[in-house]
Amino acid sequence: MESSTGIAFLGFTEKDRQHLLEAYVCIRSSIPSIMDEFYRSLDVIGEGPQNYGVEPEDLAALQAAHWRHLFDGRFDRDYENAARRIAIRHYEIGLPQDLYAMSYMKVLVLFHEAIWKAPGIERAHARVLTEAVTKAIAIDMVHAISPYSGDLV
Ligand code: HEM
Repeated sequence: MESSTGIAFLGFTEKDRQHLLEAYVCIRSSIPSIMDEFYRSLDVIGEGPQNYGVEPEDLAALQAAHWRHLFDGRFDRDYENAARRIAIRHYEIGLPQDLYAMSYMKVLVLFHEAIWKAPGIERAHARVLTEAVTKAIAIDMVHAISPYSGDLV
């Protein structure tokens, strides 16, 4: 599925893009701890990146760069090419599709948590920021899992 289809289906508007940029300001200082928590959770189920010969520390920066790119909210050619490359990489290493999809949900929960905890944030504002983040994560996740259904490979 193209980003444009997800954008139309979810109703991702210019306002959402502004909210995504604001959401990034709320969460960016928490990204290192979010990544720590993410890899800790994978360890709990024995599914850490060490199984693929890679240390979490080496992946955290790559993943953080991807989130920075996504939170820019420009689902343009540059973003799509990067998203496709990343998706294919995970498919190639044999990352199971269910674990990949659940990873997106785990990170989404952690992003929501960081937004709700942002100092002084009002309830109504946190709601629109988390909504924009949810839409963006959904669009990104569809790119991530597309090679598993035979697209892009
Ligand atoms: C929210 C889910 C995830 C995101 C956004 C993500 C992000 C990334 C990014 C941006 C890269 C670099 C790809 C490239 O530039 O070629 C990467 C590589 C990789 N990721 Fe993930 N990742 C996710 C989940 C996982 C999980 C659950 C595992 C394993 C348990 C994992 C293991 C790896 C490995 C082994 C590589 C390859 C590193 C290399 O080429 O040396 N990733 N990931």
